[in-house]
Amino acid sequence: MTPQTSLRAYALSLLAATALSVAACSPKPATETIPAKSAHMDTGERIITQNFTADRFTQSNYADIAVTHIDLDLDVNFYAKILDGVATLSFERITKGTETLVLDTKGLLIKAVSVETENGWDTAERTMGTEDPVQGTALSIDVGPSATKVKIVYSTSPEAEGLQWLTPEQTAGKKEPYLFSQAQAINARTMAPLQDTPAVRLTYSARLRVPDGLLPLMSAEQLGQQEDGSYGFNMPQPIPSYLIAIAVGDIKFKAINDTIGVYAEEYILDRAAEEFSETPQMEVENEKLYGPYRWGRYDLIVLPPSFPYGGMENPRLSFLTPTLVAGDKSLTNVVAHELAHSWSGNLVTNSNWRDAWLNEGFTSYVENRVMEALYGKDRAVMEQALGLEDLKRDVAGAARPSLTQLKFDDDLKHPDEAFSQVTYVKGQFFLNFLEDRYGRAAFDPFLKNWFNDYAFKAATTEDFLEYMERYLKPSNPDAVSEAEIKEWVYGQGLPDTIRNPKSDAFDKVAAQSASFVSGNIAASGLKTEGWSTHEWLHFLNGLPKVSSAQMEDLDTTFKLTGTQNAETAFAWYMQSIKNGYEDAFPDMEYFLKEVGRGKFIYRLYGALKDTAAKENREDWQFWTADVYEEARPGYHPIAQRRIDDILGK
Ligand code: BES
Ligand code: ZN
Repeated sequence: MTPQTSLRAYALSLLAATALSVAACSPKPATETIPAKSAHMDTGERIITQNFTADRFTQSNYADIAVTHIDLDLDVNFYAKILDGVATLSFERITKGTETLVLDTKGLLIKAVSVETENGWDTAERTMGTEDPVQGTALSIDVGPSATKVKIVYSTSPEAEGLQWLTPEQTAGKKEPYLFSQAQAINARTMAPLQDTPAVRLTYSARLRVPDGLLPLMSAEQLGQQEDGSYGFNMPQPIPSYLIAIAVGDIKFKAINDTIGVYAEEYILDRAAEEFSETPQMEVENEKLYGPYRWGRYDLIVLPPSFPYGGMENPRLSFLTPTLVAGDKSLTNVVAHELAHSWSGNLVTNSNWRDAWLNEGFTSYVENRVMEALYGKDRAVMEQALGLEDLKRDVAGAARPSLTQLKFDDDLKHPDEAFSQVTYVKGQFFLNFLEDRYGRAAFDPFLKNWFNDYAFKAATTEDFLEYMERYLKPSNPDAVSEAEIKEWVYGQGLPDTIRNPKSDAFDKVAAQSASFVSGNIAASGLKTEGWSTHEWLHFLNGLPKVSSAQMEDLDTTFKLTGTQNAETAFAWYMQSIKNGYEDAFPDMEYFLKEVGRGKFIYRLYGALKDTAAKENREDWQFWTADVYEEARPGYHPIAQRRIDDILGK
């Protein structure tokens, strides 16, 4: 919800209040702040509410004035490692009389600011606040009583956390440099001055000038090269700032069908198009369940290996790690995931990072439904079971118990804390719980309506609970108790009502594993024929401490060290650390220097550090520090910050 729609709606709701017959009676959070403002809206058929919780990760005054459009006119300067140019922002006053526009910036060099007046552009009064290490620096602009546009001449910092600048040597092609962005959660402010909160939606347009031979792309309609040599972009649907994205490099394109294709460096283009060839079917299944895809084209871009995530749901153009290109389509659930965000996240957006499960939990649920539709129940259930294993680990290892809640307390130090498996998998399993209790016949159309009624809005957890109360509960009033819902959403740890994904394939793997672990059979006796990546992951993740001889036996039998499937390699290296199997370390070192995907490297560095400390392995401490020192310059700034933290640098 943008505050302005909230307030407009709120005003309307006052007029309509007497006509409202359905009372909101959602379970209220025990430790929650009461929403400052709430609004009711009538969609025609249904009534929706919008509760407002202030976003503490923005310094902008977005409740009083809302930016509705940003136009970017930027040089992409690879020598200085900066974006350099002009941002023109259009805004609307929500609170009458607001004469100051406060924007988020981080590391930006602000060169000039002007406001539009009847006589053209006038220099504006502006002040920069004091810098906060997480939030950055607020830029306050005096916009007077009536202006609706500001122009800001600025450049980014070479250290911008949202941008990674790669030298030609750091790319596969070795000839051209590369740039890519990562704005989620709060790094859009390192790319441009704006209101960096998911509660505000804006459209955007852009012109980028790049060196000859490079192709720039954005999370928008690609308008191609213009007469003046620049490249044009347009995003006509309003999106939250964290979905603004850019990639520039020696990038080629291959179509999968008329509306879906893959961008990548040449070396991996054909393999990527083949790996992701089922994306069109994923889109079809998604639409069958939740209604039309509303964003025009859907393309994928395979980024360099330092991309710190598996995928990022930038609208019209999901960003992906090359580690998904395994050769056997075994890791394509990440594509299903990023595509699913076109409904959960990009269309209906968490209004606050405290509500991140509305993005990631919903998306994990939708992802799994699409995987089931496409590949069948067995694969879907295996993926649920693997998720649950990860969830249990994250719940047990949570830094604070409050981080095991779906709706987070107001105690997040950084939005990063909101993105453990709690948000993803506990969120997913909550929706599974509702699906089990109400049945798909009721739950599927309910969820489809949710995406429709909240389309292009931001939502809070409380909005969802109220919507459920109105439109799901009546289908079966006794299906779920209020206490059960409260426990799921505001409670800590895992409820007893959590679904137990039962996979026959995994049961067989577990039986094999038990006889291997107890020494009944050697590695060569394991019946692994036909094991999918999923079964291997279940086997490897489930291994307790085993002997060095057993590790060696597994490795010589199955050639696990150096395996090309990044997920399998990661699981094996985790076991190698736990079991002190140093034969795997040279390949693990190569992996750590090659791959920058956070999911893998944060846990590898963490395990190396903890195991070295626990077992007094000073040699491992030195080894880890050396590997990191060499690898660090190649990592994305986000990964650098996270691993600096993990290793206590
Ligand atoms: N939106 C996330 C990535 C993200 C989260 C970026 C938090 C910045 C802050 C994306 O949709 C995602 O969840 N990616 C997952 C893949 C998924 C299958 C769980 C990943 O990167 O591993
Ligand atoms: Zn996601």
